[in-house]
Amino acid sequence: KPTIVRTIVELRKEIASFRHSRPLGEASVGFVPTMGYLHEGHASLLRRSSQENGLTVLSIFVNPIQFGPNEDLDKYPRDEEKDVALAASCGVDLVFLPSVQEMYPQSRVTTVTVSEVTERLCGASRPGHFDGVATVVAKLLNIVQPDRAYFGLKDAQQVAVVTRMAQDLNIPTEIVPCPIVREEDGLALSSRNVYLNAQEREQALSLSLALAKVPEWIAEGVGAAELSELLKREIARSPLANVEYADALTYPDLLPPDADVPLRSIDGFMLVALAVRFGNTRLIDNRLLNPM
Ligand code: PAJ
Repeated sequence: KPTIVRTIVELRKEIASFRHSRPLGEASVGFVPTMGYLHEGHASLLRRSSQENGLTVLSIFVNPIQFGPNEDLDKYPRDEEKDVALAASCGVDLVFLPSVQEMYPQSRVTTVTVSEVTERLCGASRPGHFDGVATVVAKLLNIVQPDRAYFGLKDAQQVAVVTRMAQDLNIPTEIVPCPIVREEDGLALSSRNVYLNAQEREQALSLSLALAKVPEWIAEGVGAAELSELLKREIARSPLANVEYADALTYPDLLPPDADVPLRSIDGFMLVALAVRFGNTRLIDNRLLNPM
């Protein structure tokens, strides 16, 4: 059973006593930050951390400053009891469940802003979102001081932002990217999937199905602009889907390649990323590929 702590003082005390109780080489701390309502995607990060570290810390905090004014902060799903049970089954040692007051006790005058890699994709469609993410992740990494922190590539831009922030601010934590976990039919797991009705759930498959065609299209010689059109056309076959973006960018810099250059001739990783709305529910998915 994991130990549950709600304050920074208690958390630091638990981590310090762990570090002191172990010989140096065995005392590594792994950290998985989340907003709760945990599913198998989160579980994959937690299991990986408990395999690779002597102590695994999970944080559950619905971070208000990364939500826009018209987003789902108030109705973001929560289930603390179920989360703690799943954490226990994944070998989590410590669960940090801070209140908003604990994380933001005074009006905040310091914000971490990561530029450039936040210009496109979700950074463009959710203004201020990545300031909120970078700020809370910087705070959590300072609070936990883990050796490794695990992030899912489901949120590939978030991985790029956090990795770059850690480099620029000399945060000594290793940022570990982890593969996307999917339902059997291909839908990427997300806490927000519970918002989908039956029809939307069916049509939500269009994201992973469209992404599955990307390697063929790239092999045929398409450039970024044509790939974007092909993805939009494919997803538009589902009448409930509203495409917010469908873009191919270099990874991890997240820059657009020349629109007409065949993607198969580009050296290095490409991120093909989608954001699609079904009613008020916004889904994201992506594929990271190395075309050459
Ligand atoms: P949250 O959406 O709860 O996700 C927590 C972590 O789980 C993230 O690293 C996310 O990429 C990963 N994750 C979610 N779904 C996944 C899936 N299907 N496969 C693999 N990994 C998946 O991301 C956040 O919370 C917040 O922005 C946070 C980093 C905690 C800062 O508030």
